Amino acid sequence: MSVAFESLALELVLAHGAVAFVVAGAAGQLGLLGARRLRGLEVPAARVRTLACTVSAAFVLAFGLGLLAYPHYRVAVRGLVLDRQSPWASNLFDVKENLAAFSLPLLGVVLALEHDQRAPRLSGFFCVALAASVAVIVGSGLVVTLVPGP
Ligand code: HEM
Repeated sequence: MSVAFESLALELVLAHGAVAFVVAGAAGQLGLLGARRLRGLEVPAARVRTLACTVSAAFVLAFGLGLLAYPHYRVAVRGLVLDRQSPWASNLFDVKENLAAFSLPLLGVVLALEHDQRAPRLSGFFCVALAASVAVIVGSGLVVTLVPGP
C-alpha cells in the first residue's frame, strides 16, 4: 500500500515540529501581552499586531506541514502502534488536532480586533486563549511523538 508523502515523513514531522516552536514562542509572547491588557496595563498596539501576524504565518505553515505529515502518521504510527498499544495517545492527538482547528478562528478574531483597535481588552482575552490553546497543542504533539514504537 502506498501512503502519500511517505518518503518525506521524517523531514515533514521535523519541519512541522521546528515551525511549531516558532508558533509557541510568538504565541507565548502574545499571551503575555494579552494578560497585561487584561490587567489594564498599556501595551503598544504595533507590538501586538506584529506578534499576531507572526503567529498567523507560522501557524498556517505548521498546519500545512502537519496535514502533509498526517497520512504517514495515520497509517504507520496511529494505525500500527498507537491504536493498539497506547489508545490514550491517539485520543490526545485528536484533542491536539481539534484544538489546532479551533485556534484558526481564534487567530482570525485577534487579527480582526487588532485591525479595528476598538476593543483592546477583548483582544487581550483572545490572545490569552490562543496562547493557552497553542501550549496544549505543542505539549500534546510532543507527548504523542515521545510514545515508543513497537
Ligand atoms: C498548527 C498548529 C500545530 C502545532 C503548533 C503542532 C505542534 C506539534 C508538535 C510540537 C509536534 C511534535 C514535534 C515533532 O514531532 O516534530 C507535532 C507532531 C505532529 N503533528 Fe502537529 N501541530 C499542529 C497542528 C497539526 C495538524 C493540523 C496536523 C494534521 C492533522 C498535525 C500533525 C502532526 C503529526 C502527524 C505529528 C507527528 C506525530 C507522531 O508521529 O507521533 N499537527 N505537532
